Amino acid sequence: MGKPRRPDENWFKHRLRLLASRKSLDQILREGNASTMKRSLTAWDLTMIGVGAIIGGGIFVLTGVAAAKYAGPAIIVSFIIAGVCAGIAAFSYSELASMVPISGSAYTYTYATMGELLAWIIGWDLILEYLVGAATVAVSWSSYLVALFKDAFGVTLDPRTTSGPVIWDGSTFVRTGNIINIPAILIVLLITVVLVVGIQESARLNMAAVLIKVLVVLIFIFAACGRVDPANYKPFVPPAQDGKYGGLGIIRGAKTVFFAYIGFDAVSTAAQEAKNPKRDLPIGIISSLIICTTLYIATAAVVVGLRPYYELDVAHPISFALENMSNTRWLRILVDIGAVAGLLSVMLILMMGQPRIFHTMAKDGMLPSLLARIHPRFRTPYIPTIITGVCCAVLAGFLPVDLLGDMTSVGTLLAFFLVHAGVIILRFTNPDMPRGFRVPLGPFVLPVLGGAISIALIVLSEPTTIYRLFAWLGIGLIVYAIYGHRKSHLNFPRENEEVEPDYGYTATGHA
Ligand code: ALA
Repeated sequence: MGKPRRPDENWFKHRLRLLASRKSLDQILREGNASTMKRSLTAWDLTMIGVGAIIGGGIFVLTGVAAAKYAGPAIIVSFIIAGVCAGIAAFSYSELASMVPISGSAYTYTYATMGELLAWIIGWDLILEYLVGAATVAVSWSSYLVALFKDAFGVTLDPRTTSGPVIWDGSTFVRTGNIINIPAILIVLLITVVLVVGIQESARLNMAAVLIKVLVVLIFIFAACGRVDPANYKPFVPPAQDGKYGGLGIIRGAKTVFFAYIGFDAVSTAAQEAKNPKRDLPIGIISSLIICTTLYIATAAVVVGLRPYYELDVAHPISFALENMSNTRWLRILVDIGAVAGLLSVMLILMMGQPRIFHTMAKDGMLPSLLARIHPRFRTPYIPTIITGVCCAVLAGFLPVDLLGDMTSVGTLLAFFLVHAGVIILRFTNPDMPRGFRVPLGPFVLPVLGGAISIALIVLSEPTTIYRLFAWLGIGLIVYAIYGHRKSHLNFPRENEEVEPDYGYTATGHA
């Protein structure tokens, strides 16, 4: 679809048509098959990527806030509701990932189903999930590092240099008297360097982090459950007051802890390195989510049983729940170590996924080709990795965790909504295309339910979060109008353009 010969002729209609132009699945798959990425990831590796990306700040940090502020002990129900929302999305992701195993994830699926404009919007929106998500986790990581120093060495790190300068009180920023979150900045920059210079070791690093965090969570559940005081479960659903607690509080709690489930879709960004993507991507996505959901519900049940829910609004609720209990210092230190290791793998995978999405968009011409460039020696997409790292470090150094977390959640929920829509559309436009996995109960029941839950959770967000989401998408539309729309290779194919080779950069370092 090229430009009309005379630019003023039917210009407006022509442009509108371009906004809706879709990339054919054949073309997407052809480009994907031409990839030089090595296909070495098994279902086990993909499950490890999923668990690596999922268990992090959500369970280690937000459980306490959500119980104290919204749901009380019924936070357990909030975890189940958020798990259902994520589970349905996991089905939809699995169907699309098994049909279109390409690393651009929701961006690629949307390009094939709903056209370029929406694909751009979702690509831009995924920055909230991956880049802002990594910043959220970096701030949580910093809190647990502080807790680890205190629990293990009795050293209190200076809050002025370990927390951001502002908090969000719901309507405005309030100064905290702190200056900058240095640990959060340093960890992001360190991960950026690891990702730029090559990630041959990242498979082992991720595997070690996953094993440590799963083991620590299991030890916590089994060691602490004997200390649960049943009185802490009463009332299970505290009476509603000022938008807190009660039924609505449970839903608000679900919206908050939804963050804990984010990450399973990062499995789909490793699609081009999977040995048998049609079979193994659904296995990786669904099994990682089942493992994490089980651990989350058990952990939440123990945490709110250890201490009254209204005391849990702290940055490290899991180790805090054990404070003041005899003979639990070892367990607190273990929890802190598990969180520090576990959050590291979440950041690693989110910060690895973001450059892949930039890379895919740049190869489509939607972002400058600079972002598709591969480092000649390290064979990594170093430019998008550095951009991701620097932006993430700035956000983590200065912004509060709840604001970052809310933005990550709404961004992800919007992506989920479009992925559900993609499943429905493709069942009609490409009914015969082979699918390694099909969403059960037909094209409507679960995708419609999942889409509705996603929108409901977005609507339940603070109005300021929704305004920020629109502002972010508005900025994205301006960038699209100025750049993406005019440079898209689909609409304006370039002849003799030098094609960047794919990178030998892989999700788990098997390059
Ligand atoms: N689910 C991830 C976490 O909780 C993003 O840190």
